[in-house]
Amino acid sequence: MMHQTSPEIGGMGHSIKRKEDARLIQGKGHYVDDVHLPRMVHGHMIRSPYAHARLKSINIEAAMKLPGVLAVITGADLAKANLAWMPTLFHDKQMVLATDKVLFQAQEVAFVVAEDRYTAADAAELVAVEYEELPVLVDPHKALDPGAPILREDRGEKTNHIFHWEVGDEQATQKTLQDAPVRAKVDAVFQRCHPAPLETCGCVADYDPIMKHLTVWLTSQAPHAHRTLFAIVGGIPEQNIRVISPDIGGGFGNKVPIYPGYVCAVVASLTLGRPVKWIETRSENLQSTGFARDYHMTAEIAADKDGTVKALSVKTLADHGAFNAAAQPSKFPAGLFSICTGSYDFANSFCEVDGVYTNKAPGGIAYRCSFRVTEAAYLIERAMDVLAMELKTDPAELRLKNFIPPDKFPYKSPLGWSYDSGDYPAAMNKALEMVGYRELRKEQEEKRKKGELMGVGISSFTEIVGAGPGHTFDIVGIKMFDSCEIRIHPTGKAIARLGTKSQGQGHETTFPQIIAQELGIPASDITLEEGDTDTAPYGLGTYASRSTPVAGGATAIAARKIRDKAKKIAAHLLEVSEADLEWEPGKFYVKGAPSKAKTIQEIAFAAYTNLPPGMEAGLEAVDYYDPPNLTFPFGTYICVVDIDKGTGEIRVRRFVAVDDCGNIINPMIVEGQIHGGLTEGLGIAFMQLISYDENGNVQGGNFMDYLVPTAVETPHWETGKTCTPSPHHPIGAKGVGESPNVGSPAAFVNAVVDALSHLGVRHIDMPVTPWKVWQILKEKGITS
Ligand code: CDP
Repeated sequence: MMHQTSPEIGGMGHSIKRKEDARLIQGKGHYVDDVHLPRMVHGHMIRSPYAHARLKSINIEAAMKLPGVLAVITGADLAKANLAWMPTLFHDKQMVLATDKVLFQAQEVAFVVAEDRYTAADAAELVAVEYEELPVLVDPHKALDPGAPILREDRGEKTNHIFHWEVGDEQATQKTLQDAPVRAKVDAVFQRCHPAPLETCGCVADYDPIMKHLTVWLTSQAPHAHRTLFAIVGGIPEQNIRVISPDIGGGFGNKVPIYPGYVCAVVASLTLGRPVKWIETRSENLQSTGFARDYHMTAEIAADKDGTVKALSVKTLADHGAFNAAAQPSKFPAGLFSICTGSYDFANSFCEVDGVYTNKAPGGIAYRCSFRVTEAAYLIERAMDVLAMELKTDPAELRLKNFIPPDKFPYKSPLGWSYDSGDYPAAMNKALEMVGYRELRKEQEEKRKKGELMGVGISSFTEIVGAGPGHTFDIVGIKMFDSCEIRIHPTGKAIARLGTKSQGQGHETTFPQIIAQELGIPASDITLEEGDTDTAPYGLGTYASRSTPVAGGATAIAARKIRDKAKKIAAHLLEVSEADLEWEPGKFYVKGAPSKAKTIQEIAFAAYTNLPPGMEAGLEAVDYYDPPNLTFPFGTYICVVDIDKGTGEIRVRRFVAVDDCGNIINPMIVEGQIHGGLTEGLGIAFMQLISYDENGNVQGGNFMDYLVPTAVETPHWETGKTCTPSPHHPIGAKGVGESPNVGSPAAFVNAVVDALSHLGVRHIDMPVTPWKVWQILKEKGITS
């Protein structure tokens, strides 16, 4: 029995008022935190202070007596409705509210609902939870030790092992390594970090008991998928669920999973018949929602003495925390990590990953990353630098020697990917020229003689974005297509709706630009809508730089369908056959007689007023685009650092980023995406780590400990571009949003290691802090 006081069921009057408010709120593009509905109440999550403990009892009596408290929901309550556990997006299940034990610090234990959020917080203090501590497992390397505590007793398996996954030719790779005259090995940890969007996760769930209809305003990067999951898990008919994802203050992958707070808000609204708001605090966001990375990787390269790479072997331990809640395509336990051969022409490769449970928050989400690509790019770009050091060769020359040659595209990688297009030397040469590479190397030589520390770091990454082709890619079974619906109004203005959801990437600007390009309707005449499942066509949402490669394709094709119909109408209006017409953006004209023309606006009017006989009225189209392949953007980043040998302080003097994302829709937006991603990469490389002490206490749970770069730390970014269109994408575009986060960490770290390489330093794990550098300098006798 759910514990609650005085449940009030909303009357018809309230319900109508709520719907009006909802329209206004959505129309004005407010954030979830701005949603205020009449009779709305507030949820507050009670969380475990322990990382691993048996739940002995929960006493809610005192909390329930507090005036204004409406309900306290516990795991036992949810269990009665079969909702104590929910499926994760990746073949596992996760506790919504703990029933018999907790598995990480800040895990959700109970949900208090009160008239206002202050009362809810006060009531949470009055809920007495009794725990019995259990041994804690923090180090993933100890997860498979015989004496390790078994965390997931619910699985009935006596192991913390989640999965083993491998791809490639192990025998050939090992043989090449054994026979190789040169081998270079690096052990690198891509540390646990967090997307830390400025707006935390939250929702307002509003169940209307009269209409039996649920509206959820949700900070969701994938509103349609979330609606379907609410329907499947919650048993509410899907047509009675409307998910509205209003303006979102950043997502970066953090807003793809379904979190216990959402489920509790929905359950509370169903119980109380009132709208229930739940918004996380900053610490709740950092401590309990989808973390990223936590990959413990080893790469080994086999090469000839002249530096030609032959084989790559990669072994990785993936720390998934308490539940495997990675938000990624169903068939890829390690995401798209097998892009780890990067930009280089390896004949052989073998890659294996093992996932384990630990007493940490679940996640493994794609933080500005196309599913583990960031880890892969970091690893290969670090390994190439270690190889260059081994060979005592220049890292730029080594890369140029080993790039997949431009004439080898489409290129089949030894781990199975088919790269669509690329010209890696062009991007590299441009970056080298922009940064003045030769002069920098001379300067470095001079500085070393004077005992000064300066480094140049290169990263020539290859991305893989646009998940993905329906034959291979799905999330919880739903194929990863995306969609666009365009309607042209009689006056030639238009509305377009997409299955994606911008979180600040500027879709409102760029998708109308695609339509403008295809149809000649000015972009300013086109309204763009995303994020309302009642109006937008079904799509899988925005993450992993998939919007342009997938929904961008849908947009171009939907516009072309409209153009096909417009041509028929133009032929009718001009009294010629379709074959006699030529198109230029904005109008059809008769071949050889350009003055005999009909503009798209005239054609739109005719679509409602003067149609060819037998043609149905209207000018609109929808396209669900299933991409034939992924797109493979790439680039070369070069970072120059100066290090203070007394303090270990690192100054990024210059950073040049040359990106190639195929045809660009909007250069200014692409530039903004690159600046943002580089700034996030800077944070990861130098500042950020969600760490745990031996008792599983989170060490990076607030912005005093988990640092976000500000304008003070952020250097000036110098950007450049090359353009290698995607041959299979309708407008030749590739994604770009993730590239700077994928490519930059290796450039930063390579620069610092390069500055210290003459001292024998080969690797430093991120975050590369002044403290770590100072310790190395002390060890090497450079400073005291
Ligand atoms: O999926 P998400 O929107 O995060 O990433 P994206 O597809 O890489 O696009 C990010 C933004 O850059 C969008 O507004 C795109 O339309 C824009 N973009 C562009 O103008 N040209 C490209 N070739 C790629 C992206």
